[in-house]
Amino acid sequence: MIHLAVNIDHIATLREARGGIEPDPVAAAAIAELAGAVGIVCHLREDRRHVNDRDVRLLRETVKTKLDLEMAATEEIIAIAIDTLPDLVTFVPERREELTTEGGLDVAKNLHYYTEVVAKMHQNDIQVSFFIEPSEEQINAASTTGAEIIELHTGTFANARTQKEQHHELERIRNASKYAASLGLRVTAGHGLHYGNVHHICAIPEMEEISIGHAIISRAAFVGLDTAVRDMIRILQVHSA
Ligand code: PXP
Repeated sequence: MIHLAVNIDHIATLREARGGIEPDPVAAAAIAELAGAVGIVCHLREDRRHVNDRDVRLLRETVKTKLDLEMAATEEIIAIAIDTLPDLVTFVPERREELTTEGGLDVAKNLHYYTEVVAKMHQNDIQVSFFIEPSEEQINAASTTGAEIIELHTGTFANARTQKEQHHELERIRNASKYAASLGLRVTAGHGLHYGNVHHICAIPEMEEISIGHAIISRAAFVGLDTAVRDMIRILQVHSA
């Protein structure tokens, strides 16, 4: 059975739209956990456009399942991670002008740097995941750093315009999952997954967990967060390999 981690960034996006205190991503995390999420994900961006330092601090105190801090591997955010001690960090690329994370991280290009960063995280008992493209080059690099998990970028799959394109991307994700597992890496996936496309990813045998934000928070606006999380978990239960 594939597990669901819920990304609560967009609860914070809504709060920031008014610059106030509601809705609170900390409350959202508790609701998502009660509904069956096995992890809470938040992305502390350099520009603090949604989740902020207070959120990460309180989430660390209140999340009872697993706190996954998504982050760019910059000096500032690394220091915050070591100070806050999430269960897991997921390294992602980050550009100020992007609307959301665009594509996977190029671990291969900065292999030496990321190997040092992974060691630093491990010294603090923080597990490490790399958000990467489903390519052997990036999987090899992630494995070399000593990270234990990879999160495969599903954005290209989710944005595919034709069935052929979608099938091609799914094959890449399937092959990458198998290859990563053969190296001893744990495999997760995320980005752009929703109620209508997640079943394809669930059917991949090596897949352990998926990370979903936008689709769940969007549905929550209409049906409530508890129902939105439970609806997603039901799909995962039915379609897991
Ligand atoms: N995984 C990673 C690494 C991400 O950056 C994001 C977006 O913040 C997600 C998963 C969730 O993507 P979505 O909001 O499209 O479900």
